[in-house]
Amino acid sequence: MSDADYDKLFRELQELEKNFPECQSPDSPTLRIGAEVQSQLAKHEHLRPMLSLGNAFDDEELRAWEERLVRIAGDDVAKSGYTAELKIDGTAVALTYENQLFVMGATRGNGSIGEEVTVNLRTVRDVPLRLHESAPTGRIEIRGEIYFPFDRFEEMNEARARAGDPVFANPRNAAAGSLRMLDPAVTASRPLRFFGYSVAVPDGEELPFDTQTELLDALDQWGVPVAPHRKRAKTLAEVEKWADDLEHKIRSELNFAIDGGVVKVDSLHLQEELGVVGGREPRWAIARKFAPDIAETRLLDIQVNVGRTGAINPFAVLEPVEIGGVIVKLATLHNEDLIVAKDLRVGDWVQVKRAGEVIPQIIAPIPEKRTGAEKPWRMPKKCPVCGTPLTREEDEAAIYCPNIICPGRQLEGLVHFTSRGAMDIRGLSYARIEQLVQEGLVKDPGDLYSLTHEQLLELEGYADKGTDALITAIQASKSQPLNRLLNALGIRHVGAIAAQLLAQHFGTLDALMAASADDILNVRGIGATIANGVVAYFSDPGGQKLIDKLRRAGLDFKEPRAVAAGGAFSGKTIVITGTLPTLSRTKATSMIEAAGGRVTGSVSKSTDFLVAGEEAGSKLEKAKSLGVAIIDEAELLRRINRPATSST
Ligand code: IVH
Repeated sequence: MSDADYDKLFRELQELEKNFPECQSPDSPTLRIGAEVQSQLAKHEHLRPMLSLGNAFDDEELRAWEERLVRIAGDDVAKSGYTAELKIDGTAVALTYENQLFVMGATRGNGSIGEEVTVNLRTVRDVPLRLHESAPTGRIEIRGEIYFPFDRFEEMNEARARAGDPVFANPRNAAAGSLRMLDPAVTASRPLRFFGYSVAVPDGEELPFDTQTELLDALDQWGVPVAPHRKRAKTLAEVEKWADDLEHKIRSELNFAIDGGVVKVDSLHLQEELGVVGGREPRWAIARKFAPDIAETRLLDIQVNVGRTGAINPFAVLEPVEIGGVIVKLATLHNEDLIVAKDLRVGDWVQVKRAGEVIPQIIAPIPEKRTGAEKPWRMPKKCPVCGTPLTREEDEAAIYCPNIICPGRQLEGLVHFTSRGAMDIRGLSYARIEQLVQEGLVKDPGDLYSLTHEQLLELEGYADKGTDALITAIQASKSQPLNRLLNALGIRHVGAIAAQLLAQHFGTLDALMAASADDILNVRGIGATIANGVVAYFSDPGGQKLIDKLRRAGLDFKEPRAVAAGGAFSGKTIVITGTLPTLSRTKATSMIEAAGGRVTGSVSKSTDFLVAGEEAGSKLEKAKSLGVAIIDEAELLRRINRPATSST
């Protein structure tokens, strides 16, 4: 089903549940979103310890493992055979089901005690909220791995880098971090996935299968995703062949990270008999790890590029080398401090690794191979593009080109503005944007909207038809919703998620521009760094000039309402002040927003009403003087629960 179809059905369901709350089912997908921000994650003690695995780095170590098993269990090992599975490089979780309903989920933690992340796990669409009919009805725990797919990981990191936010080192960290957010809305915005691989039942109860193969088949039937490429192997030789395929073929075709395979004794009875070593590692399973993805090569040069925020990013130019089936020519170097700390010199032999199989990184130089010709590297003093002296902000490792009209920054800014996650103007490749900048036709995003057919046709590489399509795409982007525009502007620290929160809250660009840092801090999920970034952007003359230009071009500065029209507060602007008797500020805000209203921080003529609690101060006075309606919490709740048609 397309995202649009899904969204339509989803909204219909939300509407139905609003009108008939008694009909909401406990596994309704609407329960995947909208949970409260948590103040901390609760500790959770696991039913049984979540174990780790011993490692075998080659076939010989794998055979030594089998010999140990045979010494203990003799012929039974051959009778059982093995199951081989992908070793998903994510973060382990335990999902508890009661009467087939998902009731609780926790992270692995230290193996005995993890953290409860139920509301966050609910947002992961792979996690079934209800198991299929064939699943047991008692209490049952399904264990598996939450992971972050490669393609989405790269998209997210690119967006974060563009917004000036720190990037995740690898998909595993991204998965673990996203799962442990206090705000489930943030987890929901991350495309986490799940594979199940084991099942536990309370002591004294029997598992309804005899082998790991049957267990995985059962999970599949219950609606739990199971990782592909699993293999039932009669002998270790078959496992070895499978592991070889995995490392050299299958691995490069996957859209998620694995760090090897897991080989398990297939019979669950034999697993029980073989038991656990030192309370930590099962004897009956072993991780077959890959050879590490590390290679040695020469560091030919260190160069820098200029990001759209002005950040100067050094990167390594390497003598091309193959690592894990991929030719690596460049590696990230993050910042100058890191280069100094590692004592990297141009000309060094270096060890390079592909972290999380995506971004190549330099581990360290190999000093024994130095000849004396290697040269220490210094950060340039001036911007390599515009020549402006570079600056370093206190407490930040990054160096910046402070020149807002630096062509290097402008180019990157335009590329971001037009990109898929931002204004989504198709047909403007990097090369075309570069050409428009070089020809002097475009300096900032505002200029895109005045490009004419004739101007483009004069450029190399433009024909009639393509030019038409491009102009149409540029014009069509004027009606993109506010959240895309906010992301596109490249405000420091404002990425796609913050942009969405801001757009939903303020509704129009003018409301956001009129907001103070305090008003912005009232938005759920927005902190001081973002609030200050926004205020700084709109008070900068450069920012204001660009907004004026975009306004004249006719861009739509509005966010369409996500909530169905007809909510009790549809179209209303509401201010909350003082301490409410039962509701927290966040809870009241989310209830009003769910009913279609907008909560702002300060009272003005356009405020529809003020919700006043204990110790309300100046806002209450102002509301009185402006004649704004004033209500209390009880009235607020009455109006929320009242049918939409009779709302004021
Ligand atoms: S079995 C009983 N199966 O690897 C032993 N674990 O290094 C552990 N993992 O903590 C569970 N894929 O997070 C098992 N197919 C798989 C796995 C897998 C990934 C993780 C799991 C575990 C870690 C041990």
